[in-house]
Amino acid sequence: MTFSNLFSPVKVGSLNLPNRIVMAPMTRLRADGGMPNTHMADYYSQRASAGLIVTECTMISDTSAAYINAPGMYDDRFVDGWRAVTDAVHEAGGRIYLQLWHSGRVAHSSMMPDRGPPLAPSAIAGDGDLHTYEGKYPMSQPRALTGDEVRGLTKAFGKAADRARQAGFDGVEIHGAFGYLVDQFLQDGSNHRADDYGGSVENRVRFLLGVLSAVQQAMGQNVGVKLSPCSRAHGMSDSNPAGIFGFLLGQLNEADLAYVHMMEPLPFDVEMGHTIPVTRSFARAHYQGTLIANGGFGADSAEAALAAGEADLVSFGQNFIANPDLPQRMLSQTPLAMPDFNLVYGMPGNPTEAGYTDYPRSAAA
Ligand SMILES: Cc1cc2nc3c(=O)[nH]c(=O)nc-3n(C[C@H](O)[C@H](O)[C@H](O)COP(=O)(O)O)c2cc1C
Repeated sequence: MTFSNLFSPVKVGSLNLPNRIVMAPMTRLRADGGMPNTHMADYYSQRASAGLIVTECTMISDTSAAYINAPGMYDDRFVDGWRAVTDAVHEAGGRIYLQLWHSGRVAHSSMMPDRGPPLAPSAIAGDGDLHTYEGKYPMSQPRALTGDEVRGLTKAFGKAADRARQAGFDGVEIHGAFGYLVDQFLQDGSNHRADDYGGSVENRVRFLLGVLSAVQQAMGQNVGVKLSPCSRAHGMSDSNPAGIFGFLLGQLNEADLAYVHMMEPLPFDVEMGHTIPVTRSFARAHYQGTLIANGGFGADSAEAALAAGEADLVSFGQNFIANPDLPQRMLSQTPLAMPDFNLVYGMPGNPTEAGYTDYPRSAAA
């Protein structure tokens, strides 16, 4: 296989990328108390040969209370920690976006700052268990955000984006996927609101479009959005996924984005009755801007998708965990290393570096 597409340069927002390989955002839970650290700087800079790195999802508010040791950007005190990460990636020749995130109902009360209910579009609980400081528990029953609180969180996304700019990030990605707050507003299984943020498709996209506008004020054209149309993660559902996501993609055409990042359905989504089988084709039909395809790709399938014009770039998640030099390995067709799945997340008892920064580069690559 020759990789004439995967290794061709491309302009994304204002950045010139040397290849079309994106490192997909991956939560690794190594930020003690939310603070980025030197291990994270090492981890991301080891992967700087990606055309673009998108960081793990990062809290825009301390009410995004899903995971212990997920990183934060909800306060100025996080800026210097992230600056060390962006400096390390830039010194290694890379480019890096910060993924901005609120978990909404995917949270447990014991992790909320006031130990109160998690915040969501509507008082409808998500599905699944979370690791808390007190053990593993089902997500708590959330309460519905007031309209003022929704507008407050919109502003918090903008402030976090401004901090990202101060910290030297090349752009930000809004996490609109996988059953977290933005997705909870989009899909009608989790959004039963009767105000301007619920009901019609116009109302359900309002939160994301407000967030986008706040974030673009800080970051200009270097803003992307990640979506997982009709993802069933964390108990999500929608009565007409093609309706809401088709409408949203039409709106995003007007938004001057760096890219839309489309996650393909997981086997789990398909089992649960996923109705848009190939989301990148769906996105191509509705969205004319730069498209990143994601989900289950290897070098050959990524090259084929690019050659067929199905996407402009391809992102890889799991393949980057144990292969810091993934682009070189793909180019030289060196077999990929497998991650140790017990060490993917920084859990109590898991040392920080193990399964994180200790995967070697390939001598062959
Ligand atoms: C360990 C792990 C953590 C993840 N964390 C995030 C995250 O923080 N934000 C996000 O948008 N997606 C996250 N994802 C999803 C990936 O970005 C990607 O969409 C998914 O892994 C499919 O791509 P792949 O088949 O190349 O791994 C995560 C995936 C993995 C494996």
